[in-house]
Amino acid sequence: MSNKLLRTFLNEPIPTYIDRGEGIYLYTKDGKKLLDTTGGFTSHAILGWSNKRIIEAMKRQLDKITHIDYKVYSDENRDKLAELLLSRAEHKLNRVYFAGNSGGEACEAAMKLSYQYHYDLGKKEKTWFISRYQSYHGSSTDALAVGDRPNLDFYKPLFPKNRAKISEHNQYRYKEENESLEDYSKRCAKELEDKILQIGPEKVCAFIGETVMGGLIGNVPPVPNHWKDIREVCDKYDVHLILDEVFCGTGTSGKIYCCDWDGVTPDFLFMGKTLAAGYTPISIVLTNDKIEKVFKEGQGRVQHSTTHQGHSLAVVAALETQRIIHTDEILNHVCKMGELLRNRINHELSSHPFFMNVRGRGLRDSVEYKCPNQNEFGIKLTQIMKDEHNILIDGKWHRVCFSPALNIKEEELNLVLDCFIKTFKKVAENWPVS
Ligand SMILES: Cc1ncc(COP(=O)(O)O)c(C=O)c1O
Repeated sequence: MSNKLLRTFLNEPIPTYIDRGEGIYLYTKDGKKLLDTTGGFTSHAILGWSNKRIIEAMKRQLDKITHIDYKVYSDENRDKLAELLLSRAEHKLNRVYFAGNSGGEACEAAMKLSYQYHYDLGKKEKTWFISRYQSYHGSSTDALAVGDRPNLDFYKPLFPKNRAKISEHNQYRYKEENESLEDYSKRCAKELEDKILQIGPEKVCAFIGETVMGGLIGNVPPVPNHWKDIREVCDKYDVHLILDEVFCGTGTSGKIYCCDWDGVTPDFLFMGKTLAAGYTPISIVLTNDKIEKVFKEGQGRVQHSTTHQGHSLAVVAALETQRIIHTDEILNHVCKMGELLRNRINHELSSHPFFMNVRGRGLRDSVEYKCPNQNEFGIKLTQIMKDEHNILIDGKWHRVCFSPALNIKEEELNLVLDCFIKTFKKVAENWPVS
């Protein structure tokens, strides 16, 4: 143990040392074997650890070259990854831009590409970005500014100007009792329209949203047609639609692109985190040839760039990861396991007084509960699952999020659910309600 390390949580015990990962299990230095349903805590490990195919592909690449610049050299693997990533896309995006390493970088890259498009067309005033409360897009300053994390509000003096927010899209909390899903969707789209009109359409560059509101609020899928309604408003005012699929993309929803469940084509879509399943950092922005044409005839280049964009080793890790994920077998498995999770929890917990709902797409699911001291309730569930069952879950605030590796086996998922349902009932039984 070193006291030279500046850790994140300075008033908490030193976190567990991990020795290795194998499949969906983490092995700790002190000899424990933990089944992880959190994808490495930040939901990146979508194929578990020590995947032989990915490791072998990376080793082969290491012997060739680790990285060659994206701007001035070509790398066949980048071409192959771009082709593969678009091969199952139902949306109409047809260009892949290798943005950098993190999701936050990809968010900023998408924002800059969006602005460059307007700028190159002479619409230099389009500097406003609108996003939603309860969103997370990354921790670089502009990604933070379009996100919403109250504990990071102290950074506000550093934020760029011309950022605005509308309500989170959450049918479970904000749909009125007598309102149809359709009307709720229209009301949310109207709020965006009102915000655009308030700022002035000639000043608004883009609207940014997670396709499914993810890790903060806990996997709330949009109501049917919601993204189509939003798209319509964006089109009306020449505002780009930027979708964040850092958390909900690359097959985690049961389709490669989560927005393909919604039948919508954004102008930009960005991914990171899960692209190479955590074997390396890498992030991308998808866009289309119409945007490319404007850049080509404008400044002649994409102005955003970083040293490690399209990192050659990371591209190989992503390519092998995506070859595994771009199969009917795994995508069908994700849909089936997601249904199993939601059905079992619904079936076995829905009459429980603390239970609110279970929701999600594919293997990105959350259980919402309501009780006194609910943050502590989630933390207690997490602690008991770990201490008594050697299973890692992410419970806090008002929800437990599940984001296990996509190749989790049915018997492993059933074991998680057996233990979770039992733990939920047991902790609730002794929970002080007054
Ligand atoms: C939806 C979403 N967008 C963006 C990010 C930022 O990604 P990164 O932490 O790689 O910058 C995250 C990370 O959790 C995320 O969940």
